[in-house]
Amino acid sequence: MTSALTQEVATAGPPIDVVIMAAGKGTRMKSRLPKVLHQLAGRALLAHVLDTAKALQARNVVVITGHGAIEVEAHCESNAGVLAPLTLNFVRQEPQLGTGHAVQQALPKLADDGVVVVLSGDVPLTRPATLFHLISASAGQHLALLTLEMTDPTGYGRIVRAGEQANGPVQSIVEQKDASLDERSITEIYSGIMAVPAVHLKRWLARLDNRNAQGEFYLTDIVKFAVADGVAVVAHKIDDAVQVAGVNSPVQLAELERAQQLRQAHRLMEEGVRLADPGRLDVRGDLLCAQDVSIDVNCVFMGKVNLGEGVSIGAHCVIANAVIEAGAVIHPFTHIDGENVGVTVGKGALVGPFARLRPGATLGAQVHIGNFVEVKNSTLAAGAKANHLAYLGDATVGERVNYGAGSITANYDGANKHRTTIGADVHVGSNCVLVAPVTLGEGGTIGGGSTITKDTPAGALTVARGKQVSIANWSRPKKTPKV
Ligand code: UD1
Ligand code: MG
Repeated sequence: MTSALTQEVATAGPPIDVVIMAAGKGTRMKSRLPKVLHQLAGRALLAHVLDTAKALQARNVVVITGHGAIEVEAHCESNAGVLAPLTLNFVRQEPQLGTGHAVQQALPKLADDGVVVVLSGDVPLTRPATLFHLISASAGQHLALLTLEMTDPTGYGRIVRAGEQANGPVQSIVEQKDASLDERSITEIYSGIMAVPAVHLKRWLARLDNRNAQGEFYLTDIVKFAVADGVAVVAHKIDDAVQVAGVNSPVQLAELERAQQLRQAHRLMEEGVRLADPGRLDVRGDLLCAQDVSIDVNCVFMGKVNLGEGVSIGAHCVIANAVIEAGAVIHPFTHIDGENVGVTVGKGALVGPFARLRPGATLGAQVHIGNFVEVKNSTLAAGAKANHLAYLGDATVGERVNYGAGSITANYDGANKHRTTIGADVHVGSNCVLVAPVTLGEGGTIGGGSTITKDTPAGALTVARGKQVSIANWSRPKKTPKV
């Protein structure tokens, strides 16, 4: 999409109003969740369509709800902040008497001076550029239809053209169930997406009837009225089926998920990211990568993730809501989730394999977190290391601290959480229990196996465990003979 066209359509043309049909039941999903709320790339199908409306710089968007209306409307409202300045409107369509009946419900919310773009809540991957082309084709006065050639057009409305020529003027759209055998052989289909001046739309919708094979009010019947009124019907034909593909079943949802993941993978590679396999990457949110990032197979990114220059992500990592700074290496099978607090991995840090970073883990530069180490709500200053089998929760860890294998912060007394503060250059031996609240003075050493319940002095060796004793000539118990 050239930004020039975006600019031109958004500023020079009539205002754009978007109508999103989202009242249908989605029977084939066999789910309690309304169809348009099923997730694609980590977001509801409908959220993708609302994003598209935002990208069109629409003046107004009207979401037509029906099945699961309360849930669907609540979902949109919860995204209102992200969608601003887009104005959200809802209308209910109950019962659902067809696509034409659906759009009729939206009419009171549509001003006469706009161009109406009709979208479906279950068609998530339409590119804004395509819609800008469609809107320019309508030029504020024509009925513009988005169409597609399909080798198997079964089920779709067919584009009937005068003189049966591939580029003859469009006469009508005939639905599958109403089509004659001849019409069924037409391979150009209506995508379900149109751009139409509001004044015309209002006039034509008033004329709809439901005398057809399905007894529904077909939006597609307006094509006949346009022809009768001498309004030009223009078809904007595309060849990328993914852009108009709808989700009706779990299989179709999975297919579109893969298509979207591949799109994202290609975009990342175009930006210079090295992916071991674009077919084995899942981005369910926003992944931002600086230069020279490499990502091995089967990684999942969720929420907002920032990867700094030269970051390397090993295979099978799940990373959510985190900032990984330049040069850090995340080894395989690491799980990082900052939830709504965030996780930061500092420059050149090494994490994993099999590490777990939870909300509020803030690792400084060159920190090492090794296998089976869990860090939560803790700050580790530059150069600190916890290399094996350990837990750091609610801790402030100084520079260059070495935290031994099997050591934990006992941060929870059963009622409240308490902090552990470990001064710079402390060496915590293996298998220590640091009972919080507790502070370990700078440069101190904690003997392995210690249970530390009181603050420890700087520079000293602190050992808190039973003294080792040896009993000479001790003999083990012997088995008593059976009688
Ligand atoms: C519609 C088109 C068909 C086109 C196809 C593309 C009509 C009559 N036919 O077919 O030409 O090839 O889309 O996919 O428009 N919806 C409502 N209320 C209703 C009925 C539907 O909100 O009363 C919503 C559905 O939830 C869905 C969208 O409208 O999001 C399209 O409905 P669907 O039944 O999938 O379209 P078709 O009738 O199959
Ligand atoms: Mg239908």
